[in-house]
Amino acid sequence: MQEILTRNAGAQMKHVGLLSYQWLHNGKRNRYIWYLIYTSIWAFTIYMIYFICTTFMENPTYTTLESFHYPVRELAMPGISVCNLNKISKKRAEAYAEKLAISTGINKSDIMNNVTLLGHLYDFSLPADLGTLEHFQVFLETYPDNIQGGSFDTQKVLKELTTPCHETLTDCVLHGAFWNCSDLFVTELTMEGFCCVFNYIAQRKTAEFPRILKENDNNAVKIGNGGLNFKILFNVTDMTYTTMSTLGSKILISLSTDYPDKASGGLSEEIVNIGVESFIRYDAVTTTTTPEVKNYPIEKRKCIFRDEVQTIFGNYSFSDCIMDCKIKSVIALCQCVPFNYFSVFPRSELYDQCTLTDLVCLNSHIRLKMSILV
Ligand SMILES: *[C@@H]1O[C@H](CO)[C@@H](O)[C@H](O)[C@H]1NC(C)=O
Ligand SMILES: *[C@@H]1O[C@H](CO)[C@@H](O)[C@H](O)[C@H]1NC(C)=O
Ligand SMILES: *[C@@H]1O[C@H](CO)[C@@H](O)[C@H](O)[C@H]1NC(C)=O
Ligand SMILES: *[C@@H]1O[C@H](CO)[C@@H](O)[C@H](O)[C@H]1NC(C)=O
Ligand SMILES: *[C@@H]1O[C@H](CO)[C@@H](O)[C@H](O)[C@H]1NC(C)=O
Repeated sequence: MQEILTRNAGAQMKHVGLLSYQWLHNGKRNRYIWYLIYTSIWAFTIYMIYFICTTFMENPTYTTLESFHYPVRELAMPGISVCNLNKISKKRAEAYAEKLAISTGINKSDIMNNVTLLGHLYDFSLPADLGTLEHFQVFLETYPDNIQGGSFDTQKVLKELTTPCHETLTDCVLHGAFWNCSDLFVTELTMEGFCCVFNYIAQRKTAEFPRILKENDNNAVKIGNGGLNFKILFNVTDMTYTTMSTLGSKILISLSTDYPDKASGGLSEEIVNIGVESFIRYDAVTTTTTPEVKNYPIEKRKCIFRDEVQTIFGNYSFSDCIMDCKIKSVIALCQCVPFNYFSVFPRSELYDQCTLTDLVCLNSHIRLKMSILV
């Protein structure tokens, strides 16, 4: 059998039209040279095919009929948060101390002295006297209204102490039309605590949607002519605790779909002092990807579509992914969730909110970490 095959192959070789095959079979002196040439040509061809295939796999080229035309009116306005730098309103702290004094019988001015301790929950700084932290926390927990689901409700207490939006903003003008500020802004949690937030469509549990978003089918407000103007009221005599040594407000500008948090990258901030008019200009850069790219694995395309990966905030975004990681590391280190992330955190029933007793841990682990990220 073997013999027949080789004989046949030999016969075929003789009649093959290609000159070189005949040389391979019949040639004597040049035979080895031809072998060499043949093998190198084959090797080169295989290498080229392999090279082209791998290059294509690494950097696939896609041709689509979609145009690069992207009208500005399709861009959403950013989310805008107005955060009072005064974290504790004196008026409200007094009302709160009064309430506690009546129900517990402790001297009101003693309580008032300690209420500012709660401000440290915003910046995780430590007060001079650490002993009072534990003492005051134990005292606060004796008041039943402060407790929610068996543990201290830091969020509720701090909200009670902040200046609400209807006392913070007036004279709102959007796209050249006057609006009642309550229809544009809602009180919402951000990295700065409670702020008045416009065009934030990622609210989870805390706030209701303001009228403007409801009228817009719960979609972000698009860019229009004239932008947004508003006047911020700042009550200087109401100052009790600030996280910065200045008076005024902080404006946070973020994507309307992302939790407003600076450390995660997608946010810029601006301090607006008292008595000044400030113009904030922003430029938008948008990157869109056609769905065909989804056919390639994530490692290859180096980007993730919103619905491919879930973070604790829902659909993926780069900023939310980093926030997700940050909250998980706070839980791992201090076994509590900072109040401003508590309501966006879906498994919040498993953990408690951070209280004054957690400040020492938060200060040593988290403060440093967050400032590195910033
Ligand atoms: C400003 O703050 C002071 C002290 O808390 C308070 O008595 C006053 O009513 C506040 N003014 C306004 C306009 O809210
Ligand atoms: C509360 O304390 C202040 C000063 O610390 C004192 O002047 C006042 O008399 C006290 N009030 C009561 C009811 O003890
Ligand atoms: C408040 O702080 C003072 C010290 O500044 C302390 O003597 C007092 O007991 C504290 N009051 C409460 C209710 O914890
Ligand atoms: C704005 O709206 C709120 C509630 O929606 C209302 O209480 C308030 O009176 C309104 N303000 C003005 C100036 O119309
Ligand atoms: C997540 O993405 C899916 C698919 O694009 C979409 O249907 C869904 O509404 C998104 N969910 C949220 C909360 O944005």
